[in-house]
Amino acid sequence: MPAIVLIGAQWGDEGKGKATDLLGSRVDYVVKFNGGNNAGHTVVIGDQKYALHLLPSGILTDSVTPVIANGVVVDLSVLIEELDALEARGVDTSKLRISSNAHVIPPYNRMLDKMAERFLGKRKLGTTGRGIGPTYADKMNRVGIRMQDLFDESILRQKVEAALEVKNQTLLKIYNRRAVAVEEVMEELLAHVERVRPMVLDTSLVLSDALDDDKVVLFEAGQATLLDVDHGTYPFVTSSNATSGGACTGSGVPPTRIDRVIAILKAYTTRVGEGPFPTELEDDNGEFLRSQGGEYGTTTGRPRRCGWLDVVIGRYAQRINGVTDFVITKLDILTGLETIPVCVAYDVHGERFDEMPVNQSDFHHAKPIYEELPGWSEDISKCQTFDELPANAQAYVLRVEELIGARVSAIGVGPGRTETIQRFSLLGEDDL
Ligand code: GDP
Ligand code: IMO
Ligand code: MG
Repeated sequence: MPAIVLIGAQWGDEGKGKATDLLGSRVDYVVKFNGGNNAGHTVVIGDQKYALHLLPSGILTDSVTPVIANGVVVDLSVLIEELDALEARGVDTSKLRISSNAHVIPPYNRMLDKMAERFLGKRKLGTTGRGIGPTYADKMNRVGIRMQDLFDESILRQKVEAALEVKNQTLLKIYNRRAVAVEEVMEELLAHVERVRPMVLDTSLVLSDALDDDKVVLFEAGQATLLDVDHGTYPFVTSSNATSGGACTGSGVPPTRIDRVIAILKAYTTRVGEGPFPTELEDDNGEFLRSQGGEYGTTTGRPRRCGWLDVVIGRYAQRINGVTDFVITKLDILTGLETIPVCVAYDVHGERFDEMPVNQSDFHHAKPIYEELPGWSEDISKCQTFDELPANAQAYVLRVEELIGARVSAIGVGPGRTETIQRFSLLGEDDL
């Protein structure tokens, strides 16, 4: 039985949450392995809409065991808020498991994230302000606080004191803010310690046993390929590995156990925050995509920057992640366009680039070279099979498939659970 990694191919918000939810009934475990509550996944089930940030989208399926693995950074107050909100709506959250090695986002890192952005001024990254970057920095600096530290008050206090010695200097002397008291931090971190205690354990062992028992394990990435700290548009990235390799380091499940990699590719491109974006549209077409697609951030409510599909990025995502299956989402949003431009290469100062430029400043100057594909005007949201799609919509999918170099196994035609066309099994059964 497979271990499957599901990642975003572009700059996030491709519809990973919906895809995870769709696989829900076929999957036993859904594992979040990177990021924290910077993610925002909207899942629509019937007339109910759920916005998830820290919790894996699999939590909405009763039979799934949701896991927050070691690669995640956990804001404890957000964790409790999300659990309470779901319980109030009748979702059973009792199966949630959290790695004892996952790092905790302490309150001072939320402050430092926002201060750092303010100080950068025009050079800001446009972070979500959730303390993600400072907490991963603490992890690498070996001054972070882990879930297991919550259960030993004296160790926790030592760690908070040591961290605050430096953090308070930064807050006071660089940012001109007040110092944070040790007790204030201890109070927030310990507020829900008894509630989380039963959830915390060695999740890599849980997942290893699950795979030995032939369970299906789905690793759900937050963020996406071009927001990956190593492979994305650095420094305009998040601070974790959102690509498929991150599923291994972020969970303790080795690469030899991963069978499939599903990439979610939106039929156009969006980006939240700053950074280069070659196919960005600042005209009526951009506004069309934003309003038709409802492109406003699930986490911060910011309008998302919108542009045409970029298959140079699609191919890059295929290569970096080892994609076995693509899911194209939001094809319905393109309905009504006469022609649909798809970026197939870049022009950088007169030179053609078929691959992502190795030099970041070339990417900043990349001008898209477009191939124009004919559009369609029929409503496709009720289509259940590939053959029911208008000929031009089929041709669009097939051309994109050819350009990105891996099969398109499913196509999203609406936000609902049932509004998806399946072409091939995402679990790979038809490859056997
Ligand atoms: P994620 O962060 O990758 O999980 O994506 P988000 O939830 O932030 O953004 C995707 C949005 O598109 C959500 O509002 C989904 O409900 C919606 N969505 C997902 N797939 C489709 C689709 O195929 N068609 C339409 N119209 N909406 C979709
Ligand atoms: P999902 O999982 C889109 C962006 C932020 C900012 C940069 C760094 O919903 O696809 P951070 O707070 O992580 O330090 O911000 O990354 N960003 C996202 N953009 N979708 C997301 O998550 C994102 N998570 C972070 O806008 O540009
Ligand atoms: Mg999102």
